[in-house]
Amino acid sequence: MSSDDKNILDRRAFLAKISAGIAIAGVGLSAIPFIRAMSPTRDILASGRTEFDISDLKTGQIKTVIWRKQPVFILRRTSQMIKETERMDQSALSDPAPTEERAPRPDIFVALGICTHLGCVPKFMGKIPETDISGFYCPCHGGKYDSIGRRLAGPPPENLHLVPYTVESDSRITVGTETFAGYGENIRLMSRLPKA
Ligand code: FES
Repeated sequence: MSSDDKNILDRRAFLAKISAGIAIAGVGLSAIPFIRAMSPTRDILASGRTEFDISDLKTGQIKTVIWRKQPVFILRRTSQMIKETERMDQSALSDPAPTEERAPRPDIFVALGICTHLGCVPKFMGKIPETDISGFYCPCHGGKYDSIGRRLAGPPPENLHLVPYTVESDSRITVGTETFAGYGENIRLMSRLPKA
């Protein structure tokens, strides 16, 4: 074999090695989207706890946010609403719980926005029909709850269910924990909730 032939063979072997290297790298790079698709996204990992801006929520207003695909009510209660629930006769409630067990910070109430009867989304009203107090009214079958979600009347068997949350400041609130699922947890007392 002449030295020219040897050079040509060496060059071919070199080019073949480079091509093989590029092919392997290509396979590796094309696998990245699949690996990414199979790993939990940052969104999913973060969805256990979600921070919401409540700076625009004025006293007496309610905001419905979506947390883990479920509606969550955030209500900024007026002093009138606080008085109404304080004055209520606990023995008249079918699922009684004091304010500190429903809203430890009485001016803010947070709960799942799902009626405990058959799962409709209740409306917040300045006056619940046939009463003179504020609260939640479920139009599906006439369920009524006060402004801390305690069942007053109608077919709902229980108070609105609670979710773990932290009031970070007057303008921010964090809802949820990494593990609390929300709907189906059936928690009706703050003291039974996991820490947010
Ligand atoms: Fe709310 Fe029936 S679903 S009262």
